[in-house]
Amino acid sequence: MLPDFFSYKNGSLSVEDVSLGELADARGTPLFVYSREAFLSGLKALENAFRDTRHLICYSVKAASNLALLKLVADNGMGADIVSGGELHRALKAGIPGGRIVFSGVGKTKKEMSEALDAGIFMFNMESAGEMAALAEVSADKGLVAPAAFRVNPDVDPKTHPYVATGLRESKFGIPLGEALDLFLEAKKLPSLKIIGLDCHIGSQLTDAAPFRDAVTILAGLLSDLKTHGVNIRYLDIGGGLGITYRDEKPPSPEAYAAAVTGIASGFPGLTLILEPGRSVSGNSCVFLTRVLYDKKTPAKNFAIVDGAMNDLIRPSLYGSYHRVATVTEKSGGEIPVTVVGPVCESGDFLAKDRPLPPLEPGELLAFFGAGAYGFSMSSNYNSRPRAAEILVEGSTHKVIRARETYEDLIRGEIPA
Ligand code: LLP
Repeated sequence: MLPDFFSYKNGSLSVEDVSLGELADARGTPLFVYSREAFLSGLKALENAFRDTRHLICYSVKAASNLALLKLVADNGMGADIVSGGELHRALKAGIPGGRIVFSGVGKTKKEMSEALDAGIFMFNMESAGEMAALAEVSADKGLVAPAAFRVNPDVDPKTHPYVATGLRESKFGIPLGEALDLFLEAKKLPSLKIIGLDCHIGSQLTDAAPFRDAVTILAGLLSDLKTHGVNIRYLDIGGGLGITYRDEKPPSPEAYAAAVTGIASGFPGLTLILEPGRSVSGNSCVFLTRVLYDKKTPAKNFAIVDGAMNDLIRPSLYGSYHRVATVTEKSGGEIPVTVVGPVCESGDFLAKDRPLPPLEPGELLAFFGAGAYGFSMSSNYNSRPRAAEILVEGSTHKVIRARETYEDLIRGEIPA
C-alpha cells in the first residue's frame, strides 16, 4: 500500500494528480515532491484526535521547514516548535505569530533568546540551570518577563533508534526528574521569568503508545508536586515523536496517541496540551525522486547508480533507515535485488540495499517514500552538490517551493584568500 495521495495513474506514479514522470521531465532530478493534501491531512488528523482537549499544535519546524509548508501551518491557525534563530526566522516569515512559537533545544544562545523575546514567543523550554540563568539575564536586560517551561527527562525508553531517543537517563536532553522540583522553585523566584509550562520529548519515530503514556504519567506526578508547592503549570508540552510507516511499522493512530495522553492530562483542569509533531505530519507527505544514471553489475551486487545521494537524503546512511522505493513507471515481476547508490565518494552513500526491483535502465525514475521528514531539512552540499529543488503539488498543479541550487549558490560567502 502506498501512502495516501500517492498512486499509480495511467502507469505512472503520481502525487495527487501530478505524474512524477512529467514532473521530473519539467523540473529535473533529484527532487523532493510534497503533496499539499497529505501534509494538511497530517496536521488535521492530530487536530481532530485532540479536539476534546484544550491544545495547541506546534509543528516541529526541523522536520521539513520550507516556507510554503510553514505557511500551511500558519494558515491553519497552528504554531511552531523551533530549535534555532534560523527556525524562528522561517516561522515568522511564514506568518506563524510569535505567540504560537515554542523554543526547544539544549543550547539556545543569548542572541537567539533575545531574538525570540523580541518576537514575543509563547514559551521557552529550558533544559538546564545554566540556561535558566542566561534567559533570566537576557529578559531582565530587556526589561521583559520570559514565559518559560522546563523540559524534564522522565527516563522512559521510547524503543526507537538510539540517535533519536531523547528521554533516557544518559541523554543530554531535559532536567533529570529528581532535580526538577527544586529548579522550578528556583525559577519561580526570578522576576524576569514567568513559569508557565512543563515539557518533555522522549524521542522520535515511536511506534508504541505506551512510552507516551508512561512519560505523561510521570509528568502528571510532577505537576501535582508543583501544585502543592504553589507552582501553577498551565501548559503541558508533550513534545513530538509519533512514528510513521516506512516499511511495516504500525504506529498508533492519532486517536490512540491522543487516548494515551489526554486521560491523564484531564485530571488537571485548566491545563492546555502542547504538541510538537514533525514526522507524523510531513514524513509521508513527500517522495524523493531520482533518476538512474547507470546500472552496474559486479560479481557481488546489482547497483543502480542514481543522481540523488546521501547529501540529499542522509537517513539511510546515518541511521540505517529504510525508505520504500518504487519505479515511477508501473512494472510487475522480474525483480532482482538492487542496491541503489549515489555519486558521492563514500561507501556509506546508499539509499537502499538489495531491494527487489525490476532491472533498471539508465533514465528510469525511482521514488523514495517517507522523505518528507528530515529529508530535505538534513540535506547538505557535501561533494559540492547543489541541493535539490522542492515541489508542492496541489491537485493537478504544482509549484516550485525551493529552486534547485546553482553552482553560484555553492560558493556564496566564500572568499578566495
Ligand atoms: N520536539 C522536540 C524537542 C524534538 O527534539 C523533536 C525532534 C520533535 C519535537 C519532533 O519529533 P517528531 O514528531 O518529528 O518525531 N533526524 C531524525 C529525527 C530527529 C528528531 C529530533 N527531534 C530522523 O531522521 O529520524
